[in-house]
Amino acid sequence: MHPTTSESAVSPRAFLISDHARLARLGEKLLISARAGDPPDVCPSWNEFEQGLLAHLEAEEVELLPHFEAGHRLETDALRLEHARIRHLVDKMGLSVELHEAKADALEELLRIIREHSAREENLLYRWTDKNLPPPLRARLLARLRRTVSQASPAPRPSEAPR
Ligand SMILES: [Fe+2]
Ligand SMILES: [Fe+2]
Repeated sequence: MHPTTSESAVSPRAFLISDHARLARLGEKLLISARAGDPPDVCPSWNEFEQGLLAHLEAEEVELLPHFEAGHRLETDALRLEHARIRHLVDKMGLSVELHEAKADALEELLRIIREHSAREENLLYRWTDKNLPPPLRARLLARLRRTVSQASPAPRPSEAPR
């Protein structure tokens, strides 16, 4: 990163990748509790994971995909479909968690799908974002992501984000 506090110097890709990593860490923590068959531990971790994940998907859909779509229609459609699939699985898992019936295998499958989706975004959508998203839209995206992360606790803040 450049040694500057200018918002336009912050890489949205780095910030978004940090958020993927944060969610992956929460997911791994959840998986450990689910494998241990520990419903009281699964619930609070699940809530934090679910909120963070849904906020991340929404930030991409509101602040990124409408701008990316013009030159990348097929890829945008594919990403939206993957978001819909992830939301469906998150809803199902949320219900299982409420009923204290969360299965480690189902959670593992959800985390695998999220991992593949994240890698896809990091390779194309986020590279495009760093190169092409105009500065005012970058600032909006970053402000939204910072709100998302600061509302979560006790997650660490992305290291790439200057204060
Ligand atoms: Fe996404
Ligand atoms: Fe993402």
